[in-house]
Amino acid sequence: MWYKKDLLGIKELSQKEILTILDVAKNFKEVAARPIKKVPTLRGKTVINLFFEPSTRTRISFEIAAKRLSADSLNFSSSSSSLVKGETIIDTALTLEAMAPDIVIVRHSKVGIPHKLASILKSSVVNAGDGAHEHPTQALLDAFTILEHKGKIEGLSVAIIGDISHSRVVRSNIHLLTKLGAKVRVAGPLTLIPPGFEKLGVKICKSIQSAVEGCDVIMALRIQKERQGRVFIPSLEEYYEMFALTPQTLKYAKEDAIVMHPGPINRGVEISSEIADSPRSVILDQVSAGVAVRMAILYLLANVKEKQDG
Ligand code: CP
Repeated sequence: MWYKKDLLGIKELSQKEILTILDVAKNFKEVAARPIKKVPTLRGKTVINLFFEPSTRTRISFEIAAKRLSADSLNFSSSSSSLVKGETIIDTALTLEAMAPDIVIVRHSKVGIPHKLASILKSSVVNAGDGAHEHPTQALLDAFTILEHKGKIEGLSVAIIGDISHSRVVRSNIHLLTKLGAKVRVAGPLTLIPPGFEKLGVKICKSIQSAVEGCDVIMALRIQKERQGRVFIPSLEEYYEMFALTPQTLKYAKEDAIVMHPGPINRGVEISSEIADSPRSVILDQVSAGVAVRMAILYLLANVKEKQDG
């Protein structure tokens, strides 16, 4: 049973709703292993990918997820749309809705655009990343990957390292991991950690060594050069020395700790190639999980139930 029209953030989801999505995703995972990777579940439904920012993983995996469920999936390209003639985002969304889509997937650099569109559209809206606010489907696929490798989330220690200030991935992951009972530590240059961040229920560590010590899961975040209006780190080389995931810094983690990264990765900045390509890296498993998790989200939103009173 699913009652929410939209999926806008992990903050708004209950533990039960998170577990429902992960359970449904588990059922859809095996579709990728079939010779014919298609089920008729969403035949006749239409999904629009409305991305105002670049994406490889999220956009393509939503498109594959929709196609594997037999929905019609369309991609909106802002650079070749009437946005360049001055049409507003709201008018663009209303225009697309007039063509009767069932689900609209939205990514935008401004916080709250998916929420605004959800408030005016009858179609379900999925937040595929809004500014530095939330990226809920990334956190869900990360949780799915952790469950596949560790069998549980409750009680695990998770270290998230890097550009905390500009990351929507870290916020969604903190909401999800703490709701499911993991202990989360973060580390990065102090210029990239917002004041008061510990109020989200995480431990702030001064060094990567103290953050990864005894950890089960280590997640590197991308240094987001495109979101940094001014310089927050002295140099990428210095960042690599202080905060990159390398064989030296990972010595402090548990031997069976897994290494994650939402991608795209900056090799030689936040992670060394040796670690990114090592057996403990589950970065490509995260990408595969993205399809199953997004199939689950499309399936649940296309079958949303009206809540009955009493
Ligand atoms: N992790 C993620 O959102 O990647 P893309 O920007 O390629 O979609």
